[in-house]
Amino acid sequence: MTEIENDKVVGVLNRILEAELAGVVRYTHYSFLVFGFGRIPIVSWLREQANESLLHAQQAGEWITALGAYPSLGIGKLLDTHTFDIATILRESLEAERLALELYRELLGLVEGRSVALEEYARQLIQLEEMHAADVDKMLRKPGQVAATSPGQG
Ligand SMILES: [Fe+2]
Repeated sequence: MTEIENDKVVGVLNRILEAELAGVVRYTHYSFLVFGFGRIPIVSWLREQANESLLHAQQAGEWITALGAYPSLGIGKLLDTHTFDIATILRESLEAERLALELYRELLGLVEGRSVALEEYARQLIQLEEMHAADVDKMLRKPGQVAATSPGQG
């Protein structure tokens, strides 16, 4: 097996860590801004996403130290559009999830055929993040609308 290029892998893992930490802050922030009839299930869904992002951040951080590198203390980009509109919140979340998905794909490209464990990790996260993006896409559809809002991008 060809060895992984440590610096490149750690670089992507640090970007994943920062993106997932931004997810923790973003989902927590949005969870405060949901009002109306749907509040209870939507707030709990957003908090679940915050917890999942934290778990993903922790996994990335553990990988960074496993590779003998120093984890970033930075955080990914956060936009505050001051929106209370659930559809806008979900569209922003979908975009952020797709960026995270791209990072996991980049990681897979770097470790494929070089590290069984890192490859397994990248594939698992790609599967999870794709299903997550698909879920958000479904939430953005009108009832009865089967077609994805932006097909093939998940
Ligand atoms: Fe994630």
